[in-house]
Amino acid sequence: MTLSVAKAAMSAASLSRRALLKGSVASLALIGGAKVWAIASLPMRDPFIERLIKKMTLEEKAGQLSIFTAKGPGRSVNPLSGLEPSVKAIEEEVKAGRATGYFNGFNPYLSRRLQEVAVTQSRLGIPLIFAADVIHGLRTGYPVPLAEAASFDADLCYRTARMTAVEATGFGIQWTFAPMVDIARDQRWGRVVEGAGEDPWLAARLGVARVRGFQGADLRADDSLLACPKHFAAYGAVEGGKEYSTVEISETTLRQIHLPPFKSAIDAGALTIMSSFNDIGGVPATADSHLLTGILRKEWQFRGLVVSDYESEKELIAHGFAADEADAVFKAVSAGCDVSMQSGLYNACLPDLVRSGRLAERVVDEAVRRVLRVKKALGLFSNPYRSLEPARAKEVERRADMIALSREAGRKAIVLLKNEGNILPLPKSGKRIAFVGPFVSDRASTLGPWMVFPDTASAISLEAGVRAALGPDPSVSFTLGSSAEKPITGGLEAAVAAARDSDVVVMYVGETATMSGEASSREAITIPAAQQALIEAVANTGKPLVILLKHGRALALEGAALNAAAIMCTWFLGSESGNAIADVLFGDHAPRGRLPVSFPTRSGQEPFYYNRRSTGRPEISDASGFKARYREVPDQALYPFGHGLGYSSVVYGTPRASRPTLSRHGSVDVSVTVTNAGDRPVHEVIQLYVHPQVSSVTQPIRALKDIRHVELRPKESETVLFTISERDFRYMHSDFTDMADLGRFDIWAAGSASTGEPITLTLTS
Ligand code: NOJ
Repeated sequence: MTLSVAKAAMSAASLSRRALLKGSVASLALIGGAKVWAIASLPMRDPFIERLIKKMTLEEKAGQLSIFTAKGPGRSVNPLSGLEPSVKAIEEEVKAGRATGYFNGFNPYLSRRLQEVAVTQSRLGIPLIFAADVIHGLRTGYPVPLAEAASFDADLCYRTARMTAVEATGFGIQWTFAPMVDIARDQRWGRVVEGAGEDPWLAARLGVARVRGFQGADLRADDSLLACPKHFAAYGAVEGGKEYSTVEISETTLRQIHLPPFKSAIDAGALTIMSSFNDIGGVPATADSHLLTGILRKEWQFRGLVVSDYESEKELIAHGFAADEADAVFKAVSAGCDVSMQSGLYNACLPDLVRSGRLAERVVDEAVRRVLRVKKALGLFSNPYRSLEPARAKEVERRADMIALSREAGRKAIVLLKNEGNILPLPKSGKRIAFVGPFVSDRASTLGPWMVFPDTASAISLEAGVRAALGPDPSVSFTLGSSAEKPITGGLEAAVAAARDSDVVVMYVGETATMSGEASSREAITIPAAQQALIEAVANTGKPLVILLKHGRALALEGAALNAAAIMCTWFLGSESGNAIADVLFGDHAPRGRLPVSFPTRSGQEPFYYNRRSTGRPEISDASGFKARYREVPDQALYPFGHGLGYSSVVYGTPRASRPTLSRHGSVDVSVTVTNAGDRPVHEVIQLYVHPQVSSVTQPIRALKDIRHVELRPKESETVLFTISERDFRYMHSDFTDMADLGRFDIWAAGSASTGEPITLTLTS
């Protein structure tokens, strides 16, 4: 290790402090940027709300519990003239108090008009709430959440969520159905793209940042966007990764892996939660009183509202869990699902359920109370026109600072998996570069599967980004070669000719935007056959190959894609995708992302995740005999969770603990020295993993507990410090207590979930 003596001699304390400061940017920014909104400060029984409830008819109560998609015209320049008949119909619905709000509309003029109707023409003047799926930006697209998670950077997630809130509220949106905090352990599941990946610690940390970013410091502010962590619960645990399928899971795993991000999001101030489509062990989540009332309300003291996912209360009938619509409504409301999304069934059935005596009115009142409390927390009663100043839309739409942040986030989300012979970064001149693949000039798919109101026209394609980076007359060519899933006539020949005429080929291949996202589960997570054939043909030219992956999940790489000299994950990076990729490809910025999902060797390994529990016959290094593995592939990741290279190499020292033992109320510092052994600056993400040597419920072979970010100049070393306490050793026991057992624990401070050597700490009483 080339480490200057002076540096090595620097006191561990000062190094640690510096590293700590860098590592804690996120938490400092979060604390400084947004204090947690405490709904607890709203009384459970607010006299104003109680008076209102007393005045409401059963129909008006049902209306407060019903939200619908916005049916009016979309964005309109002069929306107040010539309102469509459909808008008149919505106005009638609003006047009658049959809707609590509308979602996925994009016309602030119309929303304002409807709010005026609600406040001035409905009997009780209760304001509406306007919601939308603003997942990773409204008009400015940031990286899809999975890509952004690859930054491992809570501060970044906070900032993109804050900017998203500013832009979305400018368009009259007050509530977003985000963040999705579902844990995705099976990459076949399409919605992997919308979450933070497979790890509960990371998902919780980034989920908290997103909640705080959306909501800002004061929920009543014009630019505060109410968050809605979803989908409660275990939506990511669907069998076989098949969308809308069933979930069979132990309650210890549910509580240890899938629920913590929700709990953290609620503790961070989230006031709404969306129930999930799936059942758990035969009980659909939307009618699961153990989940929605027992855990959420009683254990966690959640004071906000639960909204169903799109008609999921109606789907209780298809599940065979409810006999008819009234039965479905009864079961959902009784379990604790306050608001019906889209089905209209609460309007249709609630009043009669109460009148017939089947449903106690106090159950309905409690749901209404929760809705009105959230509206009050948003400041809607004192200022119903908050976020409904249509002129603001123009001021905030795609502001320059938003575009700059999108580019920054895009760069930080890129993960370099492999870089043989340091083929990357590519030089900006002196080499002929052939860009090949279906996405090289494509704008639309840069935004991914889940933007409701995308500004596709302004999205930067790879070609545009490369041309902007290289200036006039670059020696580059752009050839499709194939469409995403089908060959194109003459495609292979054109691609091979372009490759032959180059010094290096960059192939931009992978998934279209619609191959991940809702209802886009895949049975094999491979690059589609047409593109694989293209890659093989181009590789046969013998030219050095760089693979840029476009994808919304981990992929199983094969053949020439697997054997390429360099492989980089570029996901769906948002509006500035092409610029962000060019920034990294040509070395203006080094890659620094880390995998939030494990890359398996083959699709058949799924569900495949790093924090799997120990088996009695682990493969470890010995692949022979009767071991937990498939015949065809080692039981290892191709690229593990947490993996990601920079343009320099980093060497880890042996971690050191300040003491070999810690007591329940004490703490121990674990430090590790990392050295930039190369000649370019590097950004390293140091990951702390733990594993109890003995536990009463078998535990993950490693579980992430903390991270540190450090920037290292060439040859620079830095010692980073983690402070470990009993809390880091807790796990869910079979009686559902979350606690640590006394004993020995393995600790890693490493660059991924598969690297590093553990040290041991003992927890004493
Ligand atoms: C269904 C999706 O599962 C959910 O995430 C989304 O928020 C709703 N539709 C509303 O669009």
